[in-house]
Amino acid sequence: MKALILVGGFGTRLRPLTLSVPKPLVEFANKPMILHQIEALKAIGVTEVVLAINYQPEVMLNFLKQYEEKLGIKITCSRETEPLGTAGPLALARDKLIDDSGEPFFVMNSDVISEYPLAEMIQFHRAHGGEASIMVTKVDEPSKYGVVVMDEETGKVEKFVEKPKTFVGNKINAGIYLLNPSILDRIQLRPTSIEKEVFPRIAAENKLYAMVLPGFWMDIGQPKDYITGLRLYLNSLRKKSPSKLAAGPHIVGNVLLHASAVVGEGCLIGPDVAIGEGCVVEPGVRLSRCTVMRGVRIKKHACVSGSIIGWHSTVGQWARVENMTILGEDVHLGDEVYSNGGVVLPHKEIKSSIIKPEIVM
Ligand code: GDD
Ligand code: MG
Repeated sequence: MKALILVGGFGTRLRPLTLSVPKPLVEFANKPMILHQIEALKAIGVTEVVLAINYQPEVMLNFLKQYEEKLGIKITCSRETEPLGTAGPLALARDKLIDDSGEPFFVMNSDVISEYPLAEMIQFHRAHGGEASIMVTKVDEPSKYGVVVMDEETGKVEKFVEKPKTFVGNKINAGIYLLNPSILDRIQLRPTSIEKEVFPRIAAENKLYAMVLPGFWMDIGQPKDYITGLRLYLNSLRKKSPSKLAAGPHIVGNVLLHASAVVGEGCLIGPDVAIGEGCVVEPGVRLSRCTVMRGVRIKKHACVSGSIIGWHSTVGQWARVENMTILGEDVHLGDEVYSNGGVVLPHKEIKSSIIKPEIVM
């Protein structure tokens, strides 16, 4: 079986992290976002993943080379010279997606995180006999997604409306599809949207089916959702593989701690924290609802909550970092500095407090 991951876009909503690496390579729970997907695809027998890219393909491919061997899966790239939207890339990769088996293939948005119930999806697809299956999930704020109206019993999609202006329903497209090769005959090689142009047509022909995704789901393409997504992910890890989570008197709730990270005396870590490779957390530090990426040092008695600390940054002694602060790569926050929602671009030294949410260039 094959799969295509839509990796286009500049990831502007996740800046300043995406100033250092393409969005799919930004770590989520100590692992690049895209690896969560590739591992899930490999686990259900996908042999080749095609990355549909229009931005920095070399960086991605160089990074993923090592995983081809480690995971035993072929990773190739289909490069657009102009952005082709969410459907055009399928037409471009046509020859890579079709083989003699006639089997359906997976397509995924690169910024969604879930338990990836892909084996269940294959069963669902076989059972309904339609042309395409999409995964859907319920959300409170459907207007920023593709909304799906479906028959609850059969899963048949009656209507697909991308980013509706008025309320249509609260089940939304989760960005995970299983498609028969025949769908490629519907897509031309030009910039097109699968959500606006392809799905509504298949639905009109009664050949589009939706499966309600079991478990959690989140589009982690913006900081607030990234932090919420980590909470949901760790919660699910607690149920499925609790041994992967940290334990001890200084740990509260769900915490992912890289084996090489060092945590000093008298710290209080958690809930919902990920600490990456080689991090040093000095004594007396308090961390909650945050991600601390590879190579970071948090100095004595600092307090970080609801924030993301980018690679190789430092947070000074007695500093306080909160309210969706994002420090880019190699940012150094001085001792006793306060950051209230500061978004700091890479390679900066911050000596005075950031009192209100703002971008620091
Ligand atoms: N190769 C390529 N080329 N990929 C692209 C392009 C392009 O021109 N444009 C977007 N993509 C990729 C993005 O990188 C992302 O992985 C995916 O297509 C979806 O694009 P987003 O920009 O993240 O869309 P969205 O989040 O507003 O909406 C989509 O996702 C929602 C779920 O998170 C839609 O599919 C909605 O229907 C869905 O509900
Ligand atoms: Mg998105």
